[in-house]
Amino acid sequence: MLRRIFAFALAAAAAVYATTFDVTFTTTSGHAVPPTLYGLMFEDINHVRSGDGGLYAELIQNRAFQQVTPGTSAALTAWAALGAASITVVKSSSPVSTALPNALSFKPTATSGTVGFTNDGYFGIPVTAGFKYTGSFFYLFTSTTVPFTTSSSWQQATFTFTASSTQTSVENLFALTVNAATIGELTMEFTLISLFPPTFNNRENGMRLDISEVLLAMKPGFFRFPGGNNLEGETAAQRWAWENTVNSLVDRPGRLGTWGYINTDGNGLYEYLQWIEDMDMEPIMAVYAGYSLDGVAVAEDDLQPYITEAINQINFVIGDASTNAQAAIRSAMGHPEPFALTYIEIGNEDFFSPTTYADYRWADFVNALSAEFPQLHYISTSATSGFVPTLTPAPTYWDLHIYSNPNFFINGAFNFDILPRNGLQFFQGEYASMTNNAGVDLDFPFIDGSIAEAAYVECFDRNSDIVFAASWAPLLSSVSSIQWTPDLITFSPNTLILSTSYYVQKLFSLFKGDFYLTSTTNTASSPVQWSVTRDTATSQYFLKVVNTATTENTVVFTLPFTPVSTAGTGTILTAPSGTMNTLTNPTAVVPTNFSFTAGKTITYNAPGLSLSILTVLS
Ligand code: AHR
Repeated sequence: MLRRIFAFALAAAAAVYATTFDVTFTTTSGHAVPPTLYGLMFEDINHVRSGDGGLYAELIQNRAFQQVTPGTSAALTAWAALGAASITVVKSSSPVSTALPNALSFKPTATSGTVGFTNDGYFGIPVTAGFKYTGSFFYLFTSTTVPFTTSSSWQQATFTFTASSTQTSVENLFALTVNAATIGELTMEFTLISLFPPTFNNRENGMRLDISEVLLAMKPGFFRFPGGNNLEGETAAQRWAWENTVNSLVDRPGRLGTWGYINTDGNGLYEYLQWIEDMDMEPIMAVYAGYSLDGVAVAEDDLQPYITEAINQINFVIGDASTNAQAAIRSAMGHPEPFALTYIEIGNEDFFSPTTYADYRWADFVNALSAEFPQLHYISTSATSGFVPTLTPAPTYWDLHIYSNPNFFINGAFNFDILPRNGLQFFQGEYASMTNNAGVDLDFPFIDGSIAEAAYVECFDRNSDIVFAASWAPLLSSVSSIQWTPDLITFSPNTLILSTSYYVQKLFSLFKGDFYLTSTTNTASSPVQWSVTRDTATSQYFLKVVNTATTENTVVFTLPFTPVSTAGTGTILTAPSGTMNTLTNPTAVVPTNFSFTAGKTITYNAPGLSLSILTVLS
């Protein structure tokens, strides 16, 4: 029931009002909350490599001259000569591998002195005291008269060093130098020049620590990868093809990714899976489904190789290494046991070619994959919110994407309540308040949009009987050259900007609980939304209140029990309209804790633009 308490602003002689919402619930009516509910959607996006140079911890940009045109200045991206030397990228006459045909050709132009070449990383190289850095490179003397006989073929040198001080600036260079006198006029080639700081879980070729840690702090239930548009490629030939992302790093050619830059694929299928396992997440792995961003769908007669590729990709993940060739690659890479895998997403945003998806792509893929792997669940991508085309066989999982403005998310807070309970499970695989209500793009999420998203997320809590997973997108971006805004986390080489939307996602995930309790019905137009969930093992009840208005509103919870303690703890995210976390003020808004008196009735005054979570113990 809704009560209105009127007050009068005397000076303005106009009535303003706060609203009180009465909420009741029982301890039994409701449904289980799936452990996957709140998770992460990831792809290498943003022209600044949210994967390379971001999540993937490699510090050297353009480390193996993959997919560049030798001899061009672009091929030398991030590299410069040091001292009296010349450098150029060449097609090696004796490449280190078939996948890496190019190398950096280096020649001193003097016969003495320190000469070499430098790399300035992905918009800088952070140096942190006590961090042990691990590096390696391949080198080759290309003259037949080289005095170092052991170096007449490609050699790999490895090295480590520990930084003795922290540099506040990231304008540091990685330099490889030699004394010109020792190699005289000879030419050398270098490739796969690599440098890693400590990585998450100390994995070789692993992920960036600080980014992994703030993601882990969200306790994400799943990880959707490798895209997004980056799965599809501009053309079918440029799709993300799993087999080019596995085996040794010298066997990975890299590719021109969808977002206009070259992906090293050092962060390949194996590395994704290992990190997902380390982070205790459920993978939602996409397979290419015969549609690319040029708008061309592969004809049905030509589809089989892509279906076989998808089967091989799944076998790499879960196949028996003793009988399956793809699984044997996984085993050789260090993981003999299958990885956990339940969900396969067939394509990405296939509604851009609904006819071919409905006519044959969905059916051909899902029929072939489920014949091979009947134990897996297959997610169709062919729907946007409110648009559910008919597919045969009927999907049991759907991925919906929506990028919009705060009002959309406020008004859409009951979008899933009206959907049928007929066995269909929904995945809100991408969503974000991308603009303000005037349609102006945002550099970073702002509190108004994030709180509007929170109203929408209440809908996922409430409808978690049919919504099994939801993820905000895009996840990561560098401050140095942003292509798509806003992003959940923006980073520089040594800083992180955790957005207001990051905190909304984190709070819903941390206070997800395992059981949703049906409470008093609200309406979509209401400025206040709420949900009640419980963590059964700890008997904690989470009362979540979202106030999308800019002024205070009151919620009165009447509990079906008397809390065991009157000491309630709360967490709140709130800020004045327009506030955002930025590079210059990365902590303008962070959640804060508060205490309240917990009784059978709890009256909570929710500040304007706030997400509050009140925890009580039964
Ligand atoms: O999240 C950015 C892009 O938005 C994704 O790659 C794509 O799936 C969607 O259109």
